[in-house]
Amino acid sequence: MATCHVVAMPYPGRGHVNPMMNLCKILASRSSHILVTFVVTEEWLGFIGSETKPDNVRFSTIPNVLPSELVRAADMVGFLEAVRTKMEEPFERFLDRLETPATVIVADTFFNWAVDVGSRRNIPVASFWAMPASVFSIFYHFDLVVQNGHFPVELSEKGEELVDYVPGLSPIRLADIPTIFNMKDKRLSHKALHLISNVSKSQYLLLSSILELESPVVDALQLKFQFPIYSLGPLIPYFNLEHGNSHTTACHDDPDYFKWLDSQPQNSVLYVSLGSFLSVSSTQMDEIVAGLLNSGVRCLMVARDKASTLKEACGNAGMVVPWCDQLKVLCHSSVGGFLTHCGWNSTMESIFAGVPMLTLPLMLDQAPNCKFIVEDWKIGWKLKNWEIENLVPREEIADIARAFMDLENPKRKEMMKRSEKMKEICRGAIQKGGSSESNLDAFIKNISK
Ligand SMILES: *[C@@H]1O[C@H](CO)[C@@H](O)[C@H](O)[C@H]1NC(C)=O
Ligand SMILES: *[C@@H]1O[C@H](CO)[C@@H](O)[C@H](O)[C@H]1NC(C)=O
Repeated sequence: MATCHVVAMPYPGRGHVNPMMNLCKILASRSSHILVTFVVTEEWLGFIGSETKPDNVRFSTIPNVLPSELVRAADMVGFLEAVRTKMEEPFERFLDRLETPATVIVADTFFNWAVDVGSRRNIPVASFWAMPASVFSIFYHFDLVVQNGHFPVELSEKGEELVDYVPGLSPIRLADIPTIFNMKDKRLSHKALHLISNVSKSQYLLLSSILELESPVVDALQLKFQFPIYSLGPLIPYFNLEHGNSHTTACHDDPDYFKWLDSQPQNSVLYVSLGSFLSVSSTQMDEIVAGLLNSGVRCLMVARDKASTLKEACGNAGMVVPWCDQLKVLCHSSVGGFLTHCGWNSTMESIFAGVPMLTLPLMLDQAPNCKFIVEDWKIGWKLKNWEIENLVPREEIADIARAFMDLENPKRKEMMKRSEKMKEICRGAIQKGGSSESNLDAFIKNISK
């Protein structure tokens, strides 16, 4: 019999739904007294409805009140406006229908209205942030950015200036703060800032990061908030890995790409996945494919709907798949690098697997994530000239891929050592007594009271 009913509602985007779902699975597997209801729009249930999950996690829906995913990509401002105005009411109606009343609402930080719903009903709200704590802190302290004359600005003039006044945050170039603050259209940044304006009135802040990676930022935030902040990351599906470690021999029902990986030398494969391909131009994709082919580096590429075109281009030089089990692939001993757009999800998976990253940040939090990877943690290299020319040419991709995957390269060796360290920190956090594990316990204790 459930004594604690967690009602969780993610912001409708991949980078938000996945980590919240992983959190819910982890919570539910900790105690049979916890029941989790995961609330998504009908459209989203179509995307995630077939996922395997513990019995005490169930799905529920609200009607499709938002523009579809495709429309969303084209009209971000309209989408955020719909998130602000259209979801609160159906969510309340959903709460009214519940047989077991909600004990706690876990809502994405971008649902400004969630604290109002919670306070009207006397239900505590845990605000869930799906990106690094540092990015939260930039959002939260955006008044400082404005006061320092750093918004709005022309990046071509001030992009190299340092944002060095956000409490706990190591100095970051203005060009590396989240892209919504750099766009010419200021409506987007205003909308986004408005959407998180109620966070200080929630009862918990749940972070998808690992305390050890960002403790000065989290400590500084904790001084401002009266309620607990819990870092719970990595919120990736590590619980699906058989031995929690590398996949060494393929089972007979494993997909072909695992058999292919099994036949490759250790650390020799560059895994390539740039998130949703909507965001990479086809000219850039052509340069990436040509560059990787010229480099002679063995690649496993995820290409979604472009898989068959790319397969032709690659011939026998590598493996192209429409989709793969990313975390398992990264944990395979043949994989020695990850060409990534630096989504937070992918970043955490790469750290967990101890795989160095070659970065091509495109938008949102990807630029700051790239900065942390390359400058702070030193577990990756950045493809250059991206901001300047908006296109990385094939020659550069070939050169850097070759150097990056050269196991004898001293810079690469250094980076491998750092990646191993980060992997240990990451795995330590989820072990018994680790920071995320203890935070999870504390959160469960609090909500079960
Ligand atoms: C949350 O934000 C909205 C919009 O800014 C505001 O009207 C409301 O009063 C805020 N709620 C709380 C509890 O402060
Ligand atoms: C994030 O991680 C999940 C696994 O939790 C994976 O299936 C998904 O493709 C990843 N999403 C992105 C945008 O990288």
